[in-house]
Amino acid sequence: MADKLIIFDTTLRDGEQSPGASMTKDEKLRIARQLERLRVDVIEAGFAASSNGDFDAVKAIADVVKDSTVCSLARANDRDISRAAEALKGAASARIHTFIATSALHMEKKLRMTPDQVYEQARQAVRFARNLTGDVEFSPEDGYRSEIDFLCRVLEAVIAEGATTINIPDTVGYAVPELYGNFIKTLRERIPNSDKAVWSVHCHNDLGMAVANSLAGVQIGGARQVECTINGLGERAGNCSLEEVVMAVRTRRDYFGLELGIDTSQIVPASRLVSQTTGFVVQPNKAVVGANAFAHASGIHQDGVLKARDTYEIMRAEDVGWSANKIVLGKLSGRNAFKQRLQELGVELESEAEVNAAFARFKDLADRKSDIFDEDIIALVSDESVTS
Ligand code: KIV
Ligand code: ZN
Repeated sequence: MADKLIIFDTTLRDGEQSPGASMTKDEKLRIARQLERLRVDVIEAGFAASSNGDFDAVKAIADVVKDSTVCSLARANDRDISRAAEALKGAASARIHTFIATSALHMEKKLRMTPDQVYEQARQAVRFARNLTGDVEFSPEDGYRSEIDFLCRVLEAVIAEGATTINIPDTVGYAVPELYGNFIKTLRERIPNSDKAVWSVHCHNDLGMAVANSLAGVQIGGARQVECTINGLGERAGNCSLEEVVMAVRTRRDYFGLELGIDTSQIVPASRLVSQTTGFVVQPNKAVVGANAFAHASGIHQDGVLKARDTYEIMRAEDVGWSANKIVLGKLSGRNAFKQRLQELGVELESEAEVNAAFARFKDLADRKSDIFDEDIIALVSDESVTS
């Protein structure tokens, strides 16, 4: 049987770190329910120790969501981890995700700790968390920019303490696909107990490569969990986008050979909900969830799609939750698409000559007007417009 790729959604935690995207408890709960309908494997509901509001939101989600694991982030200290465990008490399946930075830059300048201190704190944190829950994820923050010998030492130790998932963040979006994939592969090869944990990728999008890097981590590195957000929401340029990773793995199953638990028909509803809740508009040409993702404007493409959809569609709009694909009538449209729209509008013209004349008027109009509505087409073929 094919391996399963675990989808870990962090819209409500890392996504919310996007400036201007903060959400109320009720809004988070609504999104968590939609993520459960989408059948994501893990919902990172928040960072319980960061504020009372976030604690309440994590708790409310843990109490309600039953079909996805609910996770809270915690720094690598007893207080944060205890708060996370407390908030997650009601969960059917709970995960504590603890992290500490391991790059020389972060340890020296931000944490002001020596590598040995970080190593000890990481071990103790995982040991403490494992006494509270059986499902513990560890992230070495800025992992991708960490010195590899030190990182191997830390990761081997936290796996020995019982970490069940090891996540390698590219915290600042510095990675490129081949190097990131090989980085994960090398870690897995060098760490003797690496097969005791699931390996996970967590990529930021500063250079626009979060999805490509995540997929390389899966394909080259052998990671089996991807951390991502709806619409790629997240700090700075955002996180790896859930809809793109999921549809890449599904559409190119021939290449990835992985199973997914996701109900893809819930992708567009999830995208809309997150966009409406945060006020972050989805760009029209965004893959999968953008308004133009399944829209055809050129005459050649429209003609092809009307004859056989897979001429210009590698996935079905309906499979990701759109009601249909779109044939957009405009100056590039061909006669075939125009004729099809007349049929859909219930307009019957008596002869091909009439269709040709109406099509010529449509082309003239489209040269003058960028948005052609159905009303425009009806007006074009009405008696008044014919005679005007
Ligand atoms: O980007 C990052 O390093 C994170 C960690 C806390 C996992 O979000
Ligand atoms: Zn992150």
